[in-house]
Amino acid sequence: MDLSVTIGSLTLKNPLIAASGCFGYGVEYADLVDLASLGGVAVKGLFLAEREGHPAPRIVETPAGMLNAIGLQGIGVRRFVDEKLPELRARRATVIVNVCGTTLEEYVEVSRILSDAEGVDAIELNISCPNIKEGGIQFGCSLTGTFDVVNAVRRVTRLPLIPKLTPNVTDVSSFAHAAEDAGADAVSLVNTFLAMVLDVETRRPKISNVVGGLSGPAIRPIAVRMVYECRQAVRIPIIGMGGIADARDALEFMIAGAAAVQVGTANFVDPLIWPKLLDGITSYMERHKIAKISDLVGTVDVQAEMSDV
Ligand SMILES: Cc1cc2nc3c(=O)[nH]c(=O)nc-3n(C[C@H](O)[C@H](O)[C@H](O)COP(=O)(O)O)c2cc1C
Repeated sequence: MDLSVTIGSLTLKNPLIAASGCFGYGVEYADLVDLASLGGVAVKGLFLAEREGHPAPRIVETPAGMLNAIGLQGIGVRRFVDEKLPELRARRATVIVNVCGTTLEEYVEVSRILSDAEGVDAIELNISCPNIKEGGIQFGCSLTGTFDVVNAVRRVTRLPLIPKLTPNVTDVSSFAHAAEDAGADAVSLVNTFLAMVLDVETRRPKISNVVGGLSGPAIRPIAVRMVYECRQAVRIPIIGMGGIADARDALEFMIAGAAAVQVGTANFVDPLIWPKLLDGITSYMERHKIAKISDLVGTVDVQAEMSDV
């Protein structure tokens, strides 16, 4: 059985990637999860400098999901390279670094530093975090902003470049297209949906940043639809995510068009989810006589669905 998937010049041993912000820098989970058994680890978003993030409370549970406004707390790219990357390499993890920036120049500089470091396998460009005031989603909500930042980073790195798209736009596929035109090797989607939760007794928002990003099973059908739409619009591979909690969910994204998937919020519920996801996928492949997982990608049968209605 062939579980490998190809993202640009990168071959992942299987399609399961830990989603950024939900798996620390990977090393925190190394005693629980064999990092080398994952397709990849997308580490927490990194700026040039360290960041505190927003004050608590920064997380609240919602029906079938969670709202967060961490505010991209992080140790900065240089400390990551010095302190975390060596252990990730020693654990033979496939390392995807989530790159943040408040300016285009910062995205370029962080990416340049990572490209010079030993052991980074790909860059995921975070142009979609809803929880910061400058940069980030402002690039990801503008077609020219998306093109410009991807294009600028493309010039300084040979690493596989994966812009991460926001779902907080009307037509996400046009953003996938802009990213492809600018030289992206793949796109990943979705980041979280802008959302708000209030305490009706105090009439105050439940997180300090007032609004935050919604993730978890609540967003899954919207995310699957967006992956499906992007698949019609671009040729580069798509990495799908949003509410994956079991193997069926992962397979759903792949059938809709995702070459690989990321799992975020579910990891907080069950950090030991990874072998279960892999077992579920391989038993599905056995049952459906699929020798290569890549053969499943984008095989949604829309015609049959319509005639059945
Ligand atoms: C607590 C938390 C922190 C996150 N931090 C990041 C981040 O640093 N960079 C990023 O691109 N996405 C971040 N995300 C978004 C996830 O990577 C993912 O896109 C989103 O949560 C949808 O997937 P899920 O429903 O499986 O969690 C974060 C999500 C959560 C819940």
